[in-house]
Amino acid sequence: MPDTDGPISYFTEDTSVETVLARMGEPENARLAEVMRSVIAHLHAVVKEVEPTYGEWMAAIRFLTETGQMCDAKRQEYILLSDVLGVSMLVDAINTRRPSGATENTVLGPFHVEGAPDLAMGDTISQDGQGEPLVVRGRVVDGDGTPVQGAVIDTWQTSHDGFYDVQQPEQPENNLRGIFRTGADGRFSYRSVKPSFYPIPDDGPVGQLLHGLGRGNIRPAHLHYIVSAPGFETVTTHIFVHDDPYLDSDAVFGVKQSLIREFVRHDDPDRAAEFGVANPFWTVETDFVLTPAA
Ligand code: BEZ
Ligand code: FE
Repeated sequence: MPDTDGPISYFTEDTSVETVLARMGEPENARLAEVMRSVIAHLHAVVKEVEPTYGEWMAAIRFLTETGQMCDAKRQEYILLSDVLGVSMLVDAINTRRPSGATENTVLGPFHVEGAPDLAMGDTISQDGQGEPLVVRGRVVDGDGTPVQGAVIDTWQTSHDGFYDVQQPEQPENNLRGIFRTGADGRFSYRSVKPSFYPIPDDGPVGQLLHGLGRGNIRPAHLHYIVSAPGFETVTTHIFVHDDPYLDSDAVFGVKQSLIREFVRHDDPDRAAEFGVANPFWTVETDFVLTPAA
């Protein structure tokens, strides 16, 4: 029992957690009560450790207020906060524990758009042709290496200079987005351009927090994927460019060793013609290994 100087229903520094928790009655929602018991205990522990001044506590309140005020239909500053604190990756890790060898998940991010164009094998997702050509090839397989036919691969990425179409009105709608389906051999291939590293938004409270902590706001270059197939767990993931200078400092902690791929540069006009791209060009290969749905 904590050291009390009165009934537990009166608040003291020592009994703060117990006093607050004791006010909870028979919960209508048992899970909510469980979560809030933990939140209250941890929050009080932080306050006891940090001992904020009134000014510091008001700065925290102001930060949370401004984070909420920054949110609208297009901007979700709280998700960005969760991303930069590593919480999005932690929730993702807890919810996508998979056997070794299965493709790992990583953050979805805010730039996925429903309803990207359905494209045929080998098509390009670059509608403006800007950037260095890239050929992406791979297979979707199960844990035994058996090809998964009819898997749906939804992909999106930045332009060569690091902007998603939705961030830049001059890009055509759905530039660098597409949906592909694997054939009977589980294979897929498409053409694109090599993506660039890019900054996550830093014009709001989360950007101020990052800069205040001496942290960067850059994500290393990557291609996004959501891979789904009937009977399998959907994988939300990226692949990263192996020599990107920001692999070790991703602002949202999305990099996993298993998701880094070698992007190979080719200077070979004949092969470029075979792939239907300009020379020189890049290739990358990646397989997605799916696990059965729970
Ligand atoms: C992205 O990769 O698109 C992204 C992920 C988290 C925060 C911002 C952007
Ligand atoms: Fe991204």
